Amino acid sequence: MKKTLVKNIGCLQTPVGSYSHKGSKQGANEKYSNVEIVIEDGIIRRIDASGKNDAAQFDQVIDAEGKLVTPGLVDGHTHLVFGGYRQHELAMKIAGAGYLDILRAGGGILDTVRKTRDASEEELYNKSAAFLDEMLGFGITTCEVKSGYGLTKESELKMLRVIDRMKKEHAMDVVPTFMGAHAIPPEYEGRGDEYIEFLCKEVIPEVKEQGLAEFCDIFCEEAVFDAGQSRTYLQAARETGFDLKIHADEIEAIGGTELAGEMKATSAEHLIAIKESGMDAMAEGGTTAMCLPATSFYLGATYAPAKRMIEKGIPVAIASDFNPGSCPSLNLQLAINLGCLKYRLTPEEVLTAVTINPACAINRGDVVGTIESGKQADMVIWNAPDFEMVCYRFGSNLADKVIKKGELV
Ligand code: NIG
Ligand code: FE
Repeated sequence: MKKTLVKNIGCLQTPVGSYSHKGSKQGANEKYSNVEIVIEDGIIRRIDASGKNDAAQFDQVIDAEGKLVTPGLVDGHTHLVFGGYRQHELAMKIAGAGYLDILRAGGGILDTVRKTRDASEEELYNKSAAFLDEMLGFGITTCEVKSGYGLTKESELKMLRVIDRMKKEHAMDVVPTFMGAHAIPPEYEGRGDEYIEFLCKEVIPEVKEQGLAEFCDIFCEEAVFDAGQSRTYLQAARETGFDLKIHADEIEAIGGTELAGEMKATSAEHLIAIKESGMDAMAEGGTTAMCLPATSFYLGATYAPAKRMIEKGIPVAIASDFNPGSCPSLNLQLAINLGCLKYRLTPEEVLTAVTINPACAINRGDVVGTIESGKQADMVIWNAPDFEMVCYRFGSNLADKVIKKGELV
């Protein structure tokens, strides 16, 4: 057995428990001063007062130098496997084109679809693995990754195989989501219903058969898939044995969050334009709000009413949404800053939103998301004395050392 001691922790801040934190629990963090953590074979065994353990008895000693330690961050929403980039859209954006204008003109997601279809599996893996390396450096130790830039059976399976390889070979813990319903592919232009039928009959069962995803997700949005199509797709996904996610109310509220609540989806994501009826449904259905403030920032959009959702008893998570179009940043620390500055959440509410709540929203709440006995030893030593500092400084990477399953990465 390998024994590791993380000593000299000035401040340890963590939510507690393996469940989604809602209402007043969202801001309930434990804070311990001057402690050390005992890790055995990558699992947290206990938290002791500083100096309690004899360092000589350990195989490895990591000195936190009196700094802040939190759980490793969990990014519950990314699209990090993609071909090419879309920097040319920046000029269009600056000239005033909206996200859906670019998509309707055959650009946007469809541009990335062309480049992803053209890329080899090896190219996609190497590019994605480099993103995961960078994310670990920012303190992210678990992330969800969606397919959705292939939009044919073969190219969606190709993306999912890339995600599966990351899961097996990379230090990051990766949770795969099938998102074949990310856009209507050019081959099905004007035939959205037929595309949904194709996904339900031919692709969802195959993804299940090959064990390549845990969740299914759909982009329920004006000019993409409507609420009826979303219902059909999510019903097929559930019957096949998947848990459900939905991109809803990002630009227009067309019934996606009401559907999410009614179907008890695990999470509804974006929520910029959510209405009271959507919030009521989500609270009722126990659906987590996956909020993406860096996307609001990049789109120049308004911000999801995260504070109101907490008041309504909806568990709130904050994710990066890293993708080549609406959020070309994988820095979850920026989303942390925006969570405070734009959502007006407290640092404690934000810490919950980037640890245990997204962990639960990707079915990993019993493994990661808090620093407690029995959980995987994923944690960040910060160049900060407290989490307020992480929320306050922006633009720098404040992660000092990142520990994954008890090892420095
Ligand atoms: O979550 N909104 C839909 N999908 C992504 C954007 C994908 C893209 O623009 O490439 C998102 O923002
Ligand atoms: Fe997304």
